[in-house]
Amino acid sequence: MAAARSIAAVATALAVVVAALAPAARGVDRSEFPPGFLFGAATSAYQIEGAYLEDGKGLNNWDVFTHTHSGGIKDGRNGDVADDHYHRYMGDVEILQSLGVNAYRFSISWARILPRGRLGGVNPDGIAFYNRLIDALLQKGMQPFVTLHHFDMPHELEVRYVGWLGDGIREEFEHFADVCFGAFGDRVRFWTTFNEPNLFTKFQYMLGTYPPNHCSAPFGSCNSGNSHLEPYAAAHNIIMSHAAAVRAYKEKYQAKQGGSIGIVIAMKWYEPLTNTTEDILAARRAESFELEWFLDPIFFGDYPTQMREILKSNLPTFTSEEKKLLQYKSDFIGLNHYTAIYTKDCIHSPCDLSTYEGNALVFATGERDGVKIGGDTALVGFYVVPEAVEPAIMYVNQRYKDTPVYITENGYSQWSDVSREELINDVERLNYLRGYVTYLSKAIRNGANVGGYFVWTLLDNFEWTFGYSVRFGLYHVDFDTQERTPRMSARWYRSFLTGSAAPTTDGAQERRAES
Ligand code: BGC
Repeated sequence: MAAARSIAAVATALAVVVAALAPAARGVDRSEFPPGFLFGAATSAYQIEGAYLEDGKGLNNWDVFTHTHSGGIKDGRNGDVADDHYHRYMGDVEILQSLGVNAYRFSISWARILPRGRLGGVNPDGIAFYNRLIDALLQKGMQPFVTLHHFDMPHELEVRYVGWLGDGIREEFEHFADVCFGAFGDRVRFWTTFNEPNLFTKFQYMLGTYPPNHCSAPFGSCNSGNSHLEPYAAAHNIIMSHAAAVRAYKEKYQAKQGGSIGIVIAMKWYEPLTNTTEDILAARRAESFELEWFLDPIFFGDYPTQMREILKSNLPTFTSEEKKLLQYKSDFIGLNHYTAIYTKDCIHSPCDLSTYEGNALVFATGERDGVKIGGDTALVGFYVVPEAVEPAIMYVNQRYKDTPVYITENGYSQWSDVSREELINDVERLNYLRGYVTYLSKAIRNGANVGGYFVWTLLDNFEWTFGYSVRFGLYHVDFDTQERTPRMSARWYRSFLTGSAAPTTDGAQERRAES
């Protein structure tokens, strides 16, 4: 009897250990995903292309910002050359093919297509570049997944409209989208209008760290701006620009081209810091100010009530004309999902509100009782919490009536100033990616409607205000020679996608422990 009890106890203990072993450690198989599922890597134009003044391209907001405001970039550098992808795109397409991905997410440089916006005419060399890229991808069996706006816009438009603040930018964006649908839409099945408008509007107009560098106290001190008003005014124009592009696609192109169109939102998963009602509501509020800010108008025609209650008249209202335009529905939702974080209520207890989440009267923290929510990465606040991908997708599926979701970015950052060996034997990135892909497969088994997953990013690149000091690539890039070297994580991704031999991580871990 006693023996039986102790066997049972051992069995229970074993079961607990097995359950506690992160599913990530047990591995994941491509066959756990539907056959048509998209697996890819993502990049963006300004971060990799370089060739900033070649073949008729106009200057964009980031060209000018990095040249005139280099103090705003950690290493004072810029994207003039970046990965020189403009000249090396063919090699990069071959790298993608060698990984075994069936999709590639990239963005189109607006200033390469329309150097001076709507009034200046189309640059044929810009069109030709993306035609070559798209054709090469298709020829090698990869679907182009195209973003129209990933933080860069022609400088002339930034000056004329103060970026997204002037209403005129709506027509400019609609025109840009129309030109792209017309030029490339016969071969592109997946369009997204904007990358992370919920993030870049805060960086541009609340915290003032991105061009046009607008902010006010308590968020920062800039030459101009109003952090309480401008992010919402800019967002309003972006939502309407998105809707105008969706209308153009649906009315003029979709029937004959057969593609789909969506938008990409940055989505952290917010966990309440404690199980008090206040913190639970704070988590909901943070999500509302982050995700629903854009997706509620796009899917339901108005801003979330939580935002209206707090922001009152600082939040614009939709006219009946605008509401009509919002009836053109997006086909899918892209989520850039990297992390999860705890939320603490700031309505009933005082806290620092000059932060990213401060406008939602929420304070975000990575620690509860001295224990972190997940492992650290180079970037502050980007914790490794792979199990959060499932509730995040389920939340979006439920709220937006089962609209398909794509994970359009997910990735791990390292600081650049460590040895080349450490940069290449990136066991932590491998574990991060394998963890997220494993939990994604679990989400799919539990019914999540998700159609694809893209690693951020293919190549180390210009990481916005971090310059080249932070690296996210599956491929290491030597910025002096432009040599691309596959990391251990790239070899894992390839083995996951193609069934080739997986890299052994033990050696690298041992070497790391010794150093
Ligand atoms: C952006 C990328 C960026 C990445 C890592 C996302 O917010 O879309 O452009 O490089 O995160 O910071």
